[in-house]
Amino acid sequence: MLNKKTVDLINSQINKEFYSSYLYLDMSNYYYAKNLNGFGNWFAIQTQEEYAHAMLFLKYVQNNGETVTLNAIAAPDKAYSDFKQPLETSLKHEISISASINDIYAEAHGLKDFKTMQFLNWFVKEQGEEEQKSDDLNKRFELFGIDPRGLYLLDAELATRTYTAPSLVI
Ligand code: FEO
Repeated sequence: MLNKKTVDLINSQINKEFYSSYLYLDMSNYYYAKNLNGFGNWFAIQTQEEYAHAMLFLKYVQNNGETVTLNAIAAPDKAYSDFKQPLETSLKHEISISASINDIYAEAHGLKDFKTMQFLNWFVKEQGEEEQKSDDLNKRFELFGIDPRGLYLLDAELATRTYTAPSLVI
């Protein structure tokens, strides 16, 4: 059994992860439309990762005999006027997702819900990596993305990224 507020927070997190997946799909589409297929690929993989995160939260609710509530996923409403903006938006978004997971962790900690805390540990680490990856891409874009040849090489590098399923098993 989980505390009701914990279930509500996790259900809300499921929605946020699906929204993240949708947001990154929109960014992927943006870059593919600009013929930056490597950036498109990078965000297409982000989309898959976020979908997997949503499913892990969903499974945790199910495994604890609680009800999964699926709410409407908001449309990504961002319009990008240059190649850097999706990268900046992505970093800000990851920081907000980390805060959201920290809020669930704080709730579980207050309740001495050690099971949920243990489940969330993977996500706390994952968010650290997500923020670092996004920050790194922003910084490399600043270094190389302004020059067309640098942008070409960065795009080629991002095209090699492949999807790896999460290591967490529920
Ligand atoms: Fe599921 Fe990128 O946080």
